[in-house]
Amino acid sequence: MHLPRLSGLLAFAAFVACALGAATSRDLELEDRATGTKYVFAHFIVGIVASYAQSDWTNDMKLAQAIGIDGFALNIGKDSYNAQQLGYAYAAAQALNFKVFLSFDFGYWGSGDTATIASYINTYGVLPAQFIYNNEVFVSTFVGDGFNWATVAAQSKPLFACPNYQAASLAGSSGVSCLFSWDAWASTNNQPIDQNKTTAGDVNYINTLGGKPYMMPVSPWFFTHYGPSSYNKNWIFYADYQWNSRWEQVLQLAPQFVEIVTWNDFSESHYIGPLHPSDTSVYAGGSAGAVQWVTGFPHDAWRDIAAPYIAAYKAGATSPTVTTEELVYYYRPNPKSAGCSDSVTQPTGYQYDGDSIFVIAMAKSASTVVISSGSASTSISIPAGITTVSAPMGTGVQSFALTRSGATVLSGTSPLQVTSSCSVYNFNAYVGSVTGGGGGGGTPSGTVAVTFSVYAITTYGEVRARILHDGTVVL
Ligand SMILES: *[C@@H]1O[C@H](CO)[C@@H](O)[C@H](O)[C@H]1NC(C)=O
Repeated sequence: MHLPRLSGLLAFAAFVACALGAATSRDLELEDRATGTKYVFAHFIVGIVASYAQSDWTNDMKLAQAIGIDGFALNIGKDSYNAQQLGYAYAAAQALNFKVFLSFDFGYWGSGDTATIASYINTYGVLPAQFIYNNEVFVSTFVGDGFNWATVAAQSKPLFACPNYQAASLAGSSGVSCLFSWDAWASTNNQPIDQNKTTAGDVNYINTLGGKPYMMPVSPWFFTHYGPSSYNKNWIFYADYQWNSRWEQVLQLAPQFVEIVTWNDFSESHYIGPLHPSDTSVYAGGSAGAVQWVTGFPHDAWRDIAAPYIAAYKAGATSPTVTTEELVYYYRPNPKSAGCSDSVTQPTGYQYDGDSIFVIAMAKSASTVVISSGSASTSISIPAGITTVSAPMGTGVQSFALTRSGATVLSGTSPLQVTSSCSVYNFNAYVGSVTGGGGGGGTPSGTVAVTFSVYAITTYGEVRARILHDGTVVL
């Protein structure tokens, strides 16, 4: 069995140590630089998708494209299936006019791999789906401070290298055009802290870079729960309010690039891509691994929040425009005081989390959000725009409503109840939404609700069935 990419583990080590047209996309991208066009990418862990078919890539890329993501940063180690999966990724992206670039994971690569890295650039950098910036092949990393990109460029193509170095590593670097930060969660010496994520780290990067572009990380969550007999990483970074606030910070700083961390790192619970209920091999660590905290915990509705922010970021706006009203809710399944029958202890930092039910409201005008959690109901006034509110967590049913002038605009109930009995200390977030279409919690937001008819010919004649979008079959 391959070792899955466990980027956070490496991030820990690093911290401790310190849609364009195909025809002329290169020209357009060069032009875009002059006009300041912004790009949003999502970090995609190739190491966990050994079983992906090209159609799986297509599905993920369509969901990403639907919210304005321009491409995937393809995080690769040295897996035997790199060639097959990168082939699928570049082909799927080409068909969709989506972009991709290689992101070498320096938990696996090192200074002795210059020639191999150059050969990857020579192979993939010339493909139509490759993201080209400043007329150069865009390449990134996970860590790898000090690696000499000028030498790689000399052996391959002109490169626009945007590696994930510490800001201080820019001085003395070679062939680096840009920096990407992995510092997307509030921490001190990489320990969880009871504070919201600020822009201090980003500002330090931007100041250090001078005029060079910055790729800013945006992440919704970070919970991982591997015990000492496994990968031994068990912590949660406080991120109760950050999916909304981090995007506000993006609009405030307006960096050249944004990278969402991540699309599919289930091991650290910061995925915004779809779950894989029929192929849990993507949930690293087997039955004692991420399958325990990811199964039944969709994050899809978080993409609905990213969409208006991405549009605003690309338009150079300072606030998002709400075109469709929606409530996106998220919460942990148990109060933090719950004693679970789990051989692995509570994650480091768990006590900072609020026993709260969170709602990010997207409202066109001033309204009231009503959160009914267990037996208590809380009403909170909100202005027009995108606002995060919360209410005390109660065990039982979780229901939500948006009201205005006494009328209910949106209402719905989450499929997941909060309970005080548990077998796993699961501090992952359950994310769902209440939409005007009557969408319930957990409905993948990238899925369009459709009603269609199928005809099935049986030996007794013709039977007409309707399959409703919730999966109900009506004969
Ligand atoms: C984070 O920000 C939210 C919204 O402003 C606030 O309610 C919360 O108390 C803050 N959390 C911490 C730990 O300061």
